[in-house]
Order: sequence, then structure tokens, then C-alpha cells
Amino acid sequence: MRLNTNPDAGEAPEGLLPLLSRVADACLAAEGLSGKYQAGLTLTDEAGITGINSAQRGIDRPTDVLSFPNVRYPAGRTARACPERLRRERDPETGCMDLGDIVLCVPRAREQAAEFGHSFAREAGFLLAHGMLHLMGYDHDTDARRDAMRAMEEAIMEKAGLPRELLDEDLPLIEGAREAMRMAYTPYSKYNVGACVRAADGRVFKGCNVENASYGMTICAERNAITTAVTEGATAFTAIAIAAEGALPSPCGACRQVLREFAKDMRVLLVNREGVRVTSLSALLPESFGPESLGGVTL
Ligand code: THU
Repeated sequence: MRLNTNPDAGEAPEGLLPLLSRVADACLAAEGLSGKYQAGLTLTDEAGITGINSAQRGIDRPTDVLSFPNVRYPAGRTARACPERLRRERDPETGCMDLGDIVLCVPRAREQAAEFGHSFAREAGFLLAHGMLHLMGYDHDTDARRDAMRAMEEAIMEKAGLPRELLDEDLPLIEGAREAMRMAYTPYSKYNVGACVRAADGRVFKGCNVENASYGMTICAERNAITTAVTEGATAFTAIAIAAEGALPSPCGACRQVLREFAKDMRVLLVNREGVRVTSLSALLPESFGPESLGGVTL
């Protein structure tokens, strides 16, 4: 993907452009677009983005990212469903289909990174992904569309090698999952798993996998942690750590759905002896079905 950059407020920070270009490629891949694409990218400061926001949208305020799609997507459609409209945006000079323009406020990205406790790379990449999704027809004007956009953003960030980073508060959860793993009852598979969930009220609950001679009765660590928590009155969760001994674990489909019952999204920490991968439920279970999906059903 070609990003036609214009740093209008001094030089772009070192390493930023290759990073953003990696994120832009991941965005095209997530949308399933192949072929040559381009977008304009203006890297600016607070004064710069305020000027553009005011001139283009009549909003005289700074913001973190702005995007101006070239294509008008029909309601409910995104780029993958509009190849003909995209072809009309072909730039004869470069041969690329021009998705539109993104404006990114670099100092804002730095501030937000500090506020969220993650790196500038993660924040700048996230803002670019957000802008790219707008250029491809995504929006956050309804709860459902906002959730879909968020899940895409998470998946893109992981693909681009910018997963969420570890926070101090993750450490007890990781330790809890490792402790629970040591209690696993696994005479059949010998595959030990431990899980530790954090409830919205801050309490943590552990679970390990418990196998059975009639194999199908086996219960996974994640589900045991959740049912223990529910037994203690916790039904909302913000994070789970899952530990295994060999390769990084990956929660099974059934456990993802059980987690989804109690949270639209949560931090998911996949732990082994070597390290931790930070991901999220929305990345592991996109376009999910949950309790609200039943809304409106009448008998
Ligand atoms: N297992 C879990 O505890 N969590 C998962 O998400 C994947 C699988 C357990 C179940 C069984 O005891 C063993 O791993 C092998 O499948």
C-alpha cells in the first residue's frame, strides 16, 4: 500500500512511516482487498489538525485522526463489496486506487500513548488503522458498527505486530494462571492449563482443566475459572490470563463463547514459560453472538 505522506509539521518521527505502511497493508488484508491502493497521509500537530478540522468539518478543535474517504459507500457496505466504485478512484499517475486522505496528529498520539500506558508505535498504528477503516467504509455511528470496527482494529494491530502491551495489573493475573496450571487434573492428555479471570470489581478467580475417564466430560481451565467466579457473584470480567506449559495456549471455541457471555470484549493474556502475548476477546472471536443478539426476539 502506498502512503503519500506530507509531514506538514516538521519531520516524521524516526521509524514511523515504515510502521504505518505495515499497518496500512494489514488493513487491506483484513478487508480482503488485493491490488494496488494508495492514500494521502498528513502528519501534523495540534494547530495543523485544528485548521483542517475547522476548514473541512466546521469543528474548531484539535483531534487525534481525521479521514476523508474518496468513495461513498452504500449503507452497510464496505470496500470489499464495492470493487467498481474503487476502480473509479484509480490514480492514472501511480496506477493505484486512491482510498482518500488521513490526517494524523503526532503530538496527540504521543499524549494518548502515555495516557493508555502503551507505546507511541501502538497508538500511532491504531490511529492509522482507525482512519484506514473509515476510508474503507467503516463507521462507529451505532453500537454494532462500533463493535465491528473495534474488532477489526484489534485484529489489524495483531497482524501488524503491534499487539497490546503488558500492564502492571496483568502480573497478578499471569501468576494466578500459572498457579492454577499446577493444579490441573490431566491424567489423559497431560496438557496442563490454568486460567485466572479478573472481575469488573477487581476480584480474581482461578481455574484449571479437569479431565475425566469419559473424555467428553473434560472441563477447560477457562470455563472452570468463570464458573467459580459466577458462584461468587461475579458476572462481568475485564481480563483473563491463560497459561500452558508448551506453546502459547489458545482458548478453544467453546471457552471463547463462554467468555463472550459475560463481556463483549476483555483483555486476554496468553502465557507460557517464555512469555506472554496480549490479545483481546474481540480479536479471538470477531462478529460474535452474545446475550444482546437476542434483543427484539418475541415469542
Ligand atoms: N484445554 C483447556 O483447558 N483450555 C483450552 O482452551 C484448550 C483445551 C484442556 C482441555 C483438556 O484437558 C486438554 O486441554 C487437552 O485438550
